[in-house]
Amino acid sequence: MCTSARTLSIRVELGSWPGGWVQVAAELVGNAGKVIGIDLVALDPLPQAHVVLLQGDATDAAQQDKIRAVLGGPADVVLSDMAPKLSGIKEVDEARAMELCRAALVYARTLLRPGGTLLLKVFMGAEHKQVLAELRATFTTVKTTRPEATRKGSAETYVFATGLKHT
Ligand SMILES: C[S@@+](CC[C@H](N)C(=O)[O-])C[C@H]1O[C@@H](n2cnc3c(N)ncnc32)[C@H](O)[C@@H]1O
Repeated sequence: MCTSARTLSIRVELGSWPGGWVQVAAELVGNAGKVIGIDLVALDPLPQAHVVLLQGDATDAAQQDKIRAVLGGPADVVLSDMAPKLSGIKEVDEARAMELCRAALVYARTLLRPGGTLLLKVFMGAEHKQVLAELRATFTTVKTTRPEATRKGSAETYVFATGLKHT
């Protein structure tokens, strides 16, 4: 009981606008936890004091430092729902999506406690297999899922990776 409450208590969400996930996370962790959300777009503030919302580019090292400072210790969960603005050029969009995935992996490796969890949006593309291989090397369990709400024909998938190995 104590362990599971602790497991869910500190979360970082990358790509949090307009804020649905942050609101759910804030309720799940409760006042004793902490939720930090960041997006390029400014989010409307939430009433809960345990939620910190930042506006900025999550791939920027300065933002990573800011999040680390707000956290003040390791996180239990990193969520990344980041998606690039689409240009319509397949190669460009795939490369941008992959850059966001890799940034999320850096957050997971540097912010999560050992045993921590990452939920990561990954678009199917040329480097998809490579990202999965990196995740398998970093986490004990890696599962791919496609929510029912995902549009037909969309390349969007989510990877649920648990048990961060010591890095
Ligand atoms: C699908 S939406 C996220 C929805 C959100 N999870 C929710 O619950 O409302 C994807 C978001 O990723 C953000 N994003 C894209 N690139 C980003 C970056 N480099 N840094 C931070 N956010 C980024 C976009 O601005 C966009 O709001």
